[in-house]
Amino acid sequence: MADGPRGRVQGDKWRQVNKESQTSGNPLVLFMPSGKRGRFPVGTPILDAARQLGVYVESVCGGRGICGRCQIEIQQGHFAKHGIESRAENISEFGAKEHRYAEKRDLKEGRRLSCSSTVQGDLVIDVPQDVQVNAQVVRKAAINRVIERNPAIHMCYVEVDEPDMHKPLGDLDRLKAQLERDWGWSDLLVSQHLLPSVQKILRKGGWTATAAIHQDMESSRPTIIALWPELKNEAYGIACDIGSTTIALHLVSLLSGRIVASSGTSNPQIRFGEDLMSRVSYVMMNPDGREAMTNAVRQAINELTVNVCKESGVSPGDILDLVFVGNPIMHHLFLGIDPTELGQAPFALAVSGAVHSWASELGLAVNEGARVYLLPCIAGHVGADAAAASLSEGPHRQDRMMLLVDVGTNAEIVLGNKDRVVAASSPTGPAFEGAEISSGQRAAPGAIERVRIDPQTLEPRFRVIGVEQWSNEPGFDENAAGSGITGICGSAIIEVVAEMYLTGIISEDGVVDGSMAARNPRIFSSGRTFSYLLHDGAQKITVTQNDVRAIQLAKAALYAGIKLLMQKLGIDHVDTIRFAGAFGSFIDPKYAMVLGLIPDCELGEVKAVGNAAGTGALMALLNRDHRREIENTVNRIEKIETALEPNFQQLFIDAMALPNKVDPFTRLARQVALPQRKARENAATGDGRRPGRRRRG
Ligand code: FES
Repeated sequence: MADGPRGRVQGDKWRQVNKESQTSGNPLVLFMPSGKRGRFPVGTPILDAARQLGVYVESVCGGRGICGRCQIEIQQGHFAKHGIESRAENISEFGAKEHRYAEKRDLKEGRRLSCSSTVQGDLVIDVPQDVQVNAQVVRKAAINRVIERNPAIHMCYVEVDEPDMHKPLGDLDRLKAQLERDWGWSDLLVSQHLLPSVQKILRKGGWTATAAIHQDMESSRPTIIALWPELKNEAYGIACDIGSTTIALHLVSLLSGRIVASSGTSNPQIRFGEDLMSRVSYVMMNPDGREAMTNAVRQAINELTVNVCKESGVSPGDILDLVFVGNPIMHHLFLGIDPTELGQAPFALAVSGAVHSWASELGLAVNEGARVYLLPCIAGHVGADAAAASLSEGPHRQDRMMLLVDVGTNAEIVLGNKDRVVAASSPTGPAFEGAEISSGQRAAPGAIERVRIDPQTLEPRFRVIGVEQWSNEPGFDENAAGSGITGICGSAIIEVVAEMYLTGIISEDGVVDGSMAARNPRIFSSGRTFSYLLHDGAQKITVTQNDVRAIQLAKAALYAGIKLLMQKLGIDHVDTIRFAGAFGSFIDPKYAMVLGLIPDCELGEVKAVGNAAGTGALMALLNRDHRREIENTVNRIEKIETALEPNFQQLFIDAMALPNKVDPFTRLARQVALPQRKARENAATGDGRRPGRRRRG
């Protein structure tokens, strides 16, 4: 427990001491990586100094020197920037508790127990982010980021008074009294399910026990949610992103912050409907539809939990806190809420604020007292996943204007800086995922993932998933023989259309230019329009006029949504762009911009951030302050409903052109040779499809 109640109880006293010591020349202590610093009298336990400064240092045993969670490292040397000479002798010598711990356990060279060592002079102290006490299989962290910890779960070891006939306090009451004495927890609630087992646990532990205490908000009453005999020196949490296609889950040590295992699976709801709208329709058409989909997703989460627990040797009973994110329909179905209202205007959410629940009520096979937290949803179709991605990337923390886009069948867009943030969704449809494209397919071995077209010869070369070489390189045919060349996935669809534009095969209005057939027979007539033959093999892979139109419609929907938000903020460009989600990880920013999928920006400022929603879930799991941060931010975000905006239609029509009919893309033009503009009238909707057609899901 870092800054638990005990820290607060002593806080005022320490602040006073600290103030006095500013002038008394007491040693200066600086904690890294937080950079928090203060002066403390010689002899102050380092754990206390950390608590006074609000530096999170874990402690399960309450300073008895047995849990080993409070480890720190002294940085030695002259730190000119901070005016500190930090020496080994400025910390007390190894004491009895540290010797005892080091004998029994493995205390790495240079590590000290902060509860058992004291300040003797100026110090620079490093608080390691991943104090590992139990040997466990640790996977390479899936998320490469330091998250300062302040979890909602506190593990508190206590030694409880034995029963005494003359003091008829119940076992549980004496446990609570001890938790208050040792840890400062007052007014504790107790999970009902523990009542029948308290006596057995205390006797089994010889009147020692570890209580898991949950407190999400400083103002909420803390609750004992789990109890173990003796010292329980580990607690785990789960951070899970429920995507409509994939569910990704991390098992995380709440005491060290380490991801100990990660796993993912496809969302089994796909069997009820490929996209979100078809799942809503399934619920509307089938009386048991909602229940079936709720059960399917919960079962998948339970299976993933079993997988990560097996992989890491963790017991599901040690999982105490779970954070979930998902788009509004996934969020509702997981909670057992009928999502029908989300399928039609005004897209009313049953609940938009953060949800606090119990794992047992959601049928999750973890500790019976485990708690669940769902991040708030931003709007009817901008969900807790977008909130989590915002928490991760932090447009609301920026000085510069940041655009955060998660491209799925329904793109979620957040734009802003620390002054103002706006959000919307745009119905891009499934074209970017390969659906609606004649040769489209999901990213899998055999799918074309990269495309280049020679501007002189108009000959293509491409790469296929699972094969090192480009198609014109030696060895390609042999290596591609196994998987075959089966279709085009999302990243290549963007590249091939952009390359067709850069080489003049299609005009800025997206029309395949039939006159190019004279230059290369790969451009061929297919009825009233022309197509481009990308690969002539066992399976002919072509890009048809309709394919180009489908991509234009999808990218125009996304761009018009982004532009609408830019207009709301009164800006003509964005400073930096973050692509969240799997799709963003594979697309080349250059081609996305040539296509006009995203607004003009320095290419170096466009970054793929992978599963930012998963990172946001992890942040909310490990630090309660991040929960408050995103709750406050979501309250501040202005939600824009694109369907209700009168100029969305015009922005959509302008965005049908490559890269755009009216926006100049001057930054892009400095970095990429764009074809000369040839204005063509009325081609934007050349296939007769209505622009701005709303598709959800
Ligand atoms: Fe447990 Fe220091 S707090 S060993």
